[in-house]
This record gives sequence, structure tokens and C-alpha cells, in this order.
Amino acid sequence: MSVFDLTAQSGRSTIVAGGKTKTWGINGPILGPTLRARRGEAVRIDFRNTLDEATTLHWHGMHLPAKADGGPHQMIAPGKTWHPEWVVNQPAATLWYHPHPHGKTERHVYRGLGGMFILDDDQDAALSLPRDYGVNDIPLIVQDKTFDSGGQLVETSRRDNGMIGDTILVNGTAAPYLDITAELTRLRVLNASTARSYNFGFSDDRTFAIIGTDGGLLSTPVEATRTLLTPGERIEIVIRMRPSETVRLRSYPQDLGLWGARPQTSGANDTADIIELRAAATLTPSPNLPGRLNEIERLTTDLAATTRTFDLNNNRINGQAMDMARIDETVTVDTTETWEVWNSDEQAHNFHVHDVQFQILDIDGTPPPPELAGWKDTVYIPPGSGVTLIMRFTEYTDPTTPYMYHCHMLWHEDQGMMGQFLILRPGQEPAYQPPTNEHHH
Ligand code: C2O
Ligand code: CU
Ligand code: CU
Repeated sequence: MSVFDLTAQSGRSTIVAGGKTKTWGINGPILGPTLRARRGEAVRIDFRNTLDEATTLHWHGMHLPAKADGGPHQMIAPGKTWHPEWVVNQPAATLWYHPHPHGKTERHVYRGLGGMFILDDDQDAALSLPRDYGVNDIPLIVQDKTFDSGGQLVETSRRDNGMIGDTILVNGTAAPYLDITAELTRLRVLNASTARSYNFGFSDDRTFAIIGTDGGLLSTPVEATRTLLTPGERIEIVIRMRPSETVRLRSYPQDLGLWGARPQTSGANDTADIIELRAAATLTPSPNLPGRLNEIERLTTDLAATTRTFDLNNNRINGQAMDMARIDETVTVDTTETWEVWNSDEQAHNFHVHDVQFQILDIDGTPPPPELAGWKDTVYIPPGSGVTLIMRFTEYTDPTTPYMYHCHMLWHEDQGMMGQFLILRPGQEPAYQPPTNEHHH
């Protein structure tokens, strides 16, 4: 068993000129360690909350028992500890962890709580991919923040979509660079911003290979010059560099399907440098990428017993705001379902489901492009559009504890664009008791 000791703490970080920034972190002043586990491995977390308010830690993208999920039902009061355990049973992937206290997730993530959780398996290990962590396999946690003249985080500059910051940080650092030492480098990119989406590309418009998305490797590498990443999503890309050259990973203006003033309030017109990559004079040779990365079992509608529909609008789902006292959906274990999710709003929304990785069957009736055809747990849905998702619920049932689904633009989630689902055995009755005191643990 792997045991991870994690402590949520407040601290001060040197990020911008003007002053040390008050931030929150896990085992340090900002962000947290990269956790890593193999498929089949048992994991236990020893989480201690030394903050002066209750929080949670949620394992985004992880298939695990509802009680271990770290959503709003597993609040950890100040001074308390929490010890979730599970066995990793899903493909190699770049997952992440972050707080999930109902109504406060945006602020807790913005202050700096979060980190990556990388899963490994034999399938991934057998491929000739860059996998030397910190050398040619690099985690990039991308976030935008606004600082005042004293260097403190501004937490009040919200627009429709939440806070859009003017300073981009990678792994908690402003204006970062990375020394490149190999011909091929794998970048595991996480959009851990609360509201901003990124349209990543390189400053010379070079082609890169997308090899993985939220839930693991794609079936084949996908060549691209741009790729959109909305809050909560991850993408693994491989970039080839020549000796001594420099190139910037950049976010370009993006088409989120918004009109009027909304692209501006979502930051969709912005161009921003993310990180500068500086290649050494001599680079370690890298084998070419494999042509085939993964066998992805296709889930098809004939397998699906149930179809549910979700309409995202005005910080509600199907007209209702998140209520801890209400179970919205009840799912039967070992069944496959299709979820049709619509954005009937004029704002940008995405959709994230806990416990499962899904496949996108269609976007407005059209099959997804190859980079959206792998395992996903978060998907962007432009205004006026709909996606059909297919997912299989396996292994864990709990009549007392729900999982969440929600928009991952965290201000929207906090405002109520979230719902709860139970997974039950066939014939099992729900036995859900709404929390009476969320600080009791
Ligand atoms: Cu990344 Cu419900 O969360
Ligand atoms: Cu999640
Ligand atoms: Cu939203």
C-alpha cells in the first residue's frame, strides 16, 4: 500500500514583485506534491487540515468508493484528519486533486490547494514514451490569478464566468521557463484555473502530438497546432525540439461559441505566454512516438440501459440548484448509461462527472474529433450545443453517499450548477441522510 501524508496549510509564496503572497498549499505554501500510483495498488491518504476553515480533498478523475471521493460530503474540519483508502483500478492517466467544499471550491482552489495525481500501468510502461519525471515528463499546472499592488490575491474580481486573472502561473510560478534536455518532451498540462480556458499552441505554430486526455492515452497520437483546455481538463502533449532553440507555450484567442461581450468576460480573446521552453545545446536522443498507444474499448449505445438528460442554464442543472439534501439521480451498478448534456445558456459551461471516465459519442450529432475520442471526465459544451456521453458504472455502491456531477467553472459550481447521484446494487434502496452539520467529522 502507498500511504500519502498530506497537510493543508497556509503560507506565503514569492510569486510577483510587490510582496509575498498569502497562499494555501498541501505540504508547502502553494499547490501540493505530485502523487503517483500504479494500477492494482492500494492507496491510503492521511490528510490533515491545519487551515482555519473546513475543506475537502477530491481525487478528480479517480474511480473510487463514494466515501473516499472527497466531495462536499467529506468535509474535514480545522485540526481534523481524514484517511480515505481505495485500490487503483483504471488505466494510466494524469488525474488531479483539489478541495470541493460546497459553495467554496473556487476560493479554496484559487488560494492554491491542488496537485497532480499520476497513474501508471503496464500498458503505458511498455510504450516508448518520455517518462522520466521532471526531466522529459513534466507536469504543468496552469492557473490565472490577479494580484494587488501588495502582491496579494484579489478574490473579488468576478464576472459572469468567475474570476479571470491577468497573471498566468505554472506550478505556482509567474513567467516560468523550462530547460529542455531531450529531443522529445511530454507535457502533462492541467487547467487548474477556476474559470479561464486556454487554447494552447506554440509561439512558432509548430505541430505537437496529443497523446493523452483526462482518462488516459489516446489510441494514436494526434497531430495538432492548437488545443483547447477548459477548467478541470488535462491533456498530455509531446513536443519535439532542436538543440539550443527556444519556443513558448502560449494560449491563443479561442472560439468558445460565445457572442457579444461574453468572449471578453471569459478571457477568450486573450493571448498569453504560458511557459518558455529552452533547449540545451545537446539533447538526449528520443525514440519516435509509437504509432499505436492504447486499445480503447468503445462503449456503444446498444449497451446503454438508461438515458438521462441534463440542461445547464443560469447556474442550475435541469432548473435546480445544488441541494445537499436532494439526490438527483440514482444509478444501478454494472450498467452503461448515456447522458445527454445541453448548454441552453449564453455562457460557457463544461461538465464533469465523478467516479467514472466517459466517452463522447457526439457533439451536436457529430462524432468527436480524435483528440476528444478517448477517455474523458470533463467536456466543454458551447452555448446552444449538446453532447452525448456514455459511461459505465462499476464496482462501488453506497446507498448513503452520493457522487457529484457539475460545471467545472468553479464559480458556477459554487453557485449551484451541480447535482448528486447515488450508485446502488440492483434492488437496493437509497439510505441517504442529508448532512445536518457539515463541520462534524
Ligand atoms: Cu474537479 Cu467535482 O471536481
Ligand atoms: Cu471530480
Ligand atoms: Cu459553467
